[in-house]
Amino acid sequence: MEQTLDDITRIVLEAKERAYRETDNEPEPNMASSLNWPIECTVGPGLEGAIACETRIGYVNGAKGWLIYRGYDIFDLCAYSSFEETSFLLLHGKLPSATELETFSKTLRRRMFIPKTQRLLLSFPVESMNPMAALRLGTNLMRQKQTYQDHLSESSSQEALHSDDDSIAMETVPEGKQHPVFQFLKGLFRPVSTVEPTDLVSSDETESCYNLIAGVASVAAAIGRAREGRIPLEPLPDLSFAGNYLYMLTGRRPTPLEERIMDVCLILHADHGMNASTFASMVVASTLSDIYLAIGAGISALSGPLHGGANVEVVSMLERIGKPSAVKKWYRTAMEQKKKVMGFGHRVYKAYDPRARILGPLAGMLATENPELKTMYQTALALEQEVVAHLGDSKKIFPNVDFFSGIVYRSMGIPSDLYTTIFAVSRVSGWCARVMEYIEHNRIFRPRALYTGRFDEKYVPLQDRS
Ligand code: CMC
Repeated sequence: MEQTLDDITRIVLEAKERAYRETDNEPEPNMASSLNWPIECTVGPGLEGAIACETRIGYVNGAKGWLIYRGYDIFDLCAYSSFEETSFLLLHGKLPSATELETFSKTLRRRMFIPKTQRLLLSFPVESMNPMAALRLGTNLMRQKQTYQDHLSESSSQEALHSDDDSIAMETVPEGKQHPVFQFLKGLFRPVSTVEPTDLVSSDETESCYNLIAGVASVAAAIGRAREGRIPLEPLPDLSFAGNYLYMLTGRRPTPLEERIMDVCLILHADHGMNASTFASMVVASTLSDIYLAIGAGISALSGPLHGGANVEVVSMLERIGKPSAVKKWYRTAMEQKKKVMGFGHRVYKAYDPRARILGPLAGMLATENPELKTMYQTALALEQEVVAHLGDSKKIFPNVDFFSGIVYRSMGIPSDLYTTIFAVSRVSGWCARVMEYIEHNRIFRPRALYTGRFDEKYVPLQDRS
């Protein structure tokens, strides 16, 4: 049966209904009031439990399995919003008006056009690099000094905005113009704005965020293309952010269904509390470094298998297991070897991850037509049943966001080693929003480590050491 866009909305709303029903008995969260610093809180290793700052951006309730962006439930955003609107919401704290959304979407589309950065990127062996390392490099290149300009016709279909120019470091003034790059010099220096008068939503500070949200998607797409020996593609004027990202990555115009599914995936991954990559971005930003380097730190932190890299591991794990009937034996061996099952467990969620609640049925819907995916999906369901039966009640281990996302991406023909870059493309908006918020009342991060080493060691010259 042909799937429609309405089916996706229905799947999301059904997931919402299940989530609320199943966690109805969990206590409602207390509304946090503003803190009087310093505060006392119980802290575990790795800063677990530590409160580092206040935020109005996002909220995760691990017991209820809630994920909230700026007061809006993730289920409602996935059902009714778009990635452009969600990014605007995260950055600006409110849903945009129709004009603001149109302007913002156009701005992002134009700033996806970064031929100079992509050209520079391809002068490195990105096709043989780890995709997240290549993405990190691409973000760095976005901020690098450019010594030439593209001369694009104003009437070109892209109405290309010279977003690359915007990443020229402040100390360079090529061709007598000033090009702003946000460097957290709040109160010391305000860069000159190049914002178009029609750009109702921009300010000097947010320009680099717009460049990053758009540019990281283009860089990620170019990396995917390079790995197939192809050159980057330009964004198309009639596609959404999600549609353009898919088009620039696969070289194929996505179907409306694929465009919508990618949109939902991007909304789902856009923000998630003080996770490792968000924290890494904020730590770098708190030194008054710059936002390109801060986002680069986020990309680096996201690349690990305990964070964003898990979905790549999930797909190869499901491939190794092979079929549903092999699950029980595989699981027993994994537990005997004290292995963690990728795509399960979460530091915060002790209920079912709401993102997995949406991605699971979406993966199921996409797998129906494809025998290879169908087997993988059924293997995933059998594994979920096994893990939850053994660890659900006792350790509160349930599928997390990474468990089903790989199956969804595979259905769109995306190679598995690029999955974590999709996570990054989306999360840039959350990183930017969090960094911008934190820097308003910046305090450099400086936790302590307890020294448990030795004192009073006597220095022995090299030649006297045994
Ligand atoms: N499979 C089997 N057992 C697990 C798993 C798992 N995936 N996750 C946790 N446990 C067990 C763990 O062995 C420990 O048992 P015990 O108390 O007997 O020692 C207990 O649960 C607590 O584990 P933990 O490692 O202390 O829990 P954590 O909160 O530090 O870890 C986690 C969270 C995500 C790092 C971990 O669950 C994990 O490594 N999962 C697999 C990797 C994965 O899927 N990562 C994606 C995370 S979601 C994406 C994101 O938001 O970044």
